[in-house]
Amino acid sequence: MNVLMVTSECAPFVKTGGLADVVGALPGALAPLGLDVRVMLPAYPGLFPLLPQGEEVARFDDLPGGPGRLVQVQAQGLVLLLLDAPQLYDRAGKPYTGPDGRDWADNHLRFGALAQAAARICFDGLPGWKPEVLHAHDWQAGLAPVYLKQAGRAVPKSVLTIHNIAFQGRFGPQVLGELGLRDDWFHADGLEYYGDLSFLKAGLVYADAVTTVSPTYAREILTPEFGMGLEGVLQARAADLSGILNGIDTGAWNPSADEALARTFDAKTLARKAENRAEIAARLGLERGEGPLFCVISRLTGQKGLDTLAEAIPHLVAEGAQLALLGSGEPALEEAYTRAAQQFPGRVGVQIGYDEAFSHLLQGGSDAILIPSRFEPCGLTQLYGLRYGTLPVVARTGGLADTVIDANAAALAVGVATGFVLDSVSRQGIEAGISRTCAAYADRKLWQGMQRAAMRQPVGWETSARAYADLYATLQA
Ligand code: ADP
Ligand code: GLC
Repeated sequence: MNVLMVTSECAPFVKTGGLADVVGALPGALAPLGLDVRVMLPAYPGLFPLLPQGEEVARFDDLPGGPGRLVQVQAQGLVLLLLDAPQLYDRAGKPYTGPDGRDWADNHLRFGALAQAAARICFDGLPGWKPEVLHAHDWQAGLAPVYLKQAGRAVPKSVLTIHNIAFQGRFGPQVLGELGLRDDWFHADGLEYYGDLSFLKAGLVYADAVTTVSPTYAREILTPEFGMGLEGVLQARAADLSGILNGIDTGAWNPSADEALARTFDAKTLARKAENRAEIAARLGLERGEGPLFCVISRLTGQKGLDTLAEAIPHLVAEGAQLALLGSGEPALEEAYTRAAQQFPGRVGVQIGYDEAFSHLLQGGSDAILIPSRFEPCGLTQLYGLRYGTLPVVARTGGLADTVIDANAAALAVGVATGFVLDSVSRQGIEAGISRTCAAYADRKLWQGMQRAAMRQPVGWETSARAYADLYATLQA
């Protein structure tokens, strides 16, 4: 079966978060199941070096925002379809924001064009290849199912995956014409969202199936607390909504062969993690410590609960632990952590910025990873933590709740505990979680047992790739 994935990010080429990891790894997991997946994404400047190696497979004269061409190229085991439209994508900055940190003013055109090009490929096909299922990811691809439905054709079927419902792609109603969308579909049961157009809502209404990235989050988004205004739309689609847990690329994230580590290790050689800790300490100026090293690897946003974690830092230090944080995002949070590093030199180390290699080293050398998210559709860093014997300390929400088994008495008694689940994302809740983690760490035998249980947990894509393949097959039938 031929599957066209439509996305705004794909690791290792362009990444702002977990979406990129998922789209970068899922096609490879679907291939052994007989699926031929191609990944369509904008040709941002970072992808320009690939263009000359590829082949032009389609041209479009009149996408939203102007003309474009599609270049197919194989790279890193993926077949990419790069939408080359310099007037939309050839800019210094990030995928969604300019150098000033604000959203690009023409994001509706940048991602409307992507969605429309995808729909046209579905109708016209490429030389020797025609999509049988279109799989759109997040709001940026949300209009693709709409364009398919608008054309009134039954094939291909479409799936929309919600990676993060907080980002909804909302624009004023004046963009409808520019995007070639039907006026008569602009109503509350269609494209309209409180007087505006929402790319995500539109996709949720018109896709044949909707998924999100964990079973718990699939239930949570049906409630006002987590649905962010879209719970009604999702309730209406509940019969077509499912949660399929993310996996990770166990090749790229393999502690026994990870080139970013100072020392590789496996479940039998856990003591070697100490060499990675020493390397982290050297880079961040941390002292030698007896207590555990906690790490944070995260976008610094309200979603992640890191404002509250910052309040718990004095407690973490008082418990004899250390903290290493790698992240970037909201200036207030960047400042709060930079200040914490100054306040607790040798105990708290902070690197502001994005650094893929250092994120691997942190997983390799830390004892625990803190993820106190207020909501978390799936979360990947806890899965990397499990694989690296770096025990996750997580909020009880979304995919975090689905992937970490709390070290309660029952779970410990049968040896299945893999981490620590917080009672609440409050200063007290986080402090209690830190204390429990420190106490467990002090019991070397218990701790190593948990590390081994964590490293045994299957975190690859096998099961979930099969779930996607089954979903595609059901839709096609
Ligand atoms: P989200 O997609 O909400 O950001 P995930 O946990 O699903 O959360 O994915 C985050 C991804 O981004 C992980 O691969 C994580 O390692 C990576 N990441 C986040 N911040 C940084 C950073 N500052 N440097 C390197 N990698 C980061
Ligand atoms: C989102 C979510 C995160 C999820 C990722 C990949 O950015 O915030 O929880 O793991 O997408 O699906």
